[in-house]
Amino acid sequence: MNTHENNTLLDFRSDTITRPTAAMRQAMADAIVGDDQYGEDPTVNRLEALAAQMVGKEAAVYVPSGTMGNVSAMMARCGRGDEAILGDESHIYWFESGSPAALGGITQFILPTEVDGTIDPTRIELAIRVDRSGYPRTQVICIENTHNRRSGRVLPLSYMREVAQISSRHNVPVHLDGARIFNAAAALGVGVPEITAHVDSVQFCLSKALAAPVGSVVAGSADFIERVRRQRKLLGGAMRQAGVIAAAGIVALETMVDRLPEDHVRAKRLAASLARIAGVTLDPEGVQTNIVVFQVDGSIDQTELAERLKERGLLVSNYGAVGLRMVTHVDVDDADVDKALDIIGSTVPTMLEGSRVRAAD
Ligand SMILES: Cc1ncc(COP(=O)(O)O)c(C=O)c1O
Repeated sequence: MNTHENNTLLDFRSDTITRPTAAMRQAMADAIVGDDQYGEDPTVNRLEALAAQMVGKEAAVYVPSGTMGNVSAMMARCGRGDEAILGDESHIYWFESGSPAALGGITQFILPTEVDGTIDPTRIELAIRVDRSGYPRTQVICIENTHNRRSGRVLPLSYMREVAQISSRHNVPVHLDGARIFNAAAALGVGVPEITAHVDSVQFCLSKALAAPVGSVVAGSADFIERVRRQRKLLGGAMRQAGVIAAAGIVALETMVDRLPEDHVRAKRLAASLARIAGVTLDPEGVQTNIVVFQVDGSIDQTELAERLKERGLLVSNYGAVGLRMVTHVDVDDADVDKALDIIGSTVPTMLEGSRVRAAD
């Protein structure tokens, strides 16, 4: 059975486009299920226990998406008018429909994101409010690891430790948007718990590099996870026989983690070769995991470039001011990277030359 369509397209837009493996489909078909809202879906329960153990937290809850994972975790910390500290290039701030404000009434103290995906710890500490009736109450610090808009950068463990120290000095918990936390761990060569030891809660996605079709997990203390369950219900994300999809999540955790370094090697090779193409700018050293963000010469219209690449069978994401994004994942191999490089290597210099000729006219 061919379960993969569009095989002729080189799809580097995201690792979210990965499709479930044959083992995942089999596990979904075989899943033993029950009503998860009664706590009676054994497959969901198994996924949650496995996920909690793998990220070194007491408990975990399965949620339909990373966005719901982040917002439910934030709503479990913040009441209406309470404040979250966030980076200006964070996924939560850019790509989650303003959900903390729209759904949770959460105000956001936005701080600049550094090139390496960190937020200056001094700024974080200064942003934490003192207790005064006119101020919102700072209830959570959100960080992102790996950092999507910063080319998949991994936050150093020393940085995580520093943020944790600020958190405990001021008694403000840290939430980690760890959509790709297994990529971060692979890049650092440590177990996920070594990273998550420095945060109070983590959201990670099963449906990105790990290739499950649906779902994310929020993990933290048992008491906190009970509060997240309440928020998940409120948001309409509590499910019934969700074991059918959770089964694929278990296979993802059991079989897809160890192969992540392959994606990283491909992304680094892609970045090194892209950096040599006339008209392309990127720092290959900044590529540490499976995400490659690059810029093109200002004389080239980025949107037009993305269109031309698409016409030639290569899909990339247009990230506006940040540049173009390409992500390596289980559904692209070495030959696909070579083909992508050929296409970009002939399209960008041609457009650059075209713009020079126009300028000379
Ligand atoms: C860093 C990060 N956080 C959160 C999410 C949200 O996940 P979802 O698309 O499942 O809502 C994404 C999705 O791309 C992401 O890259």
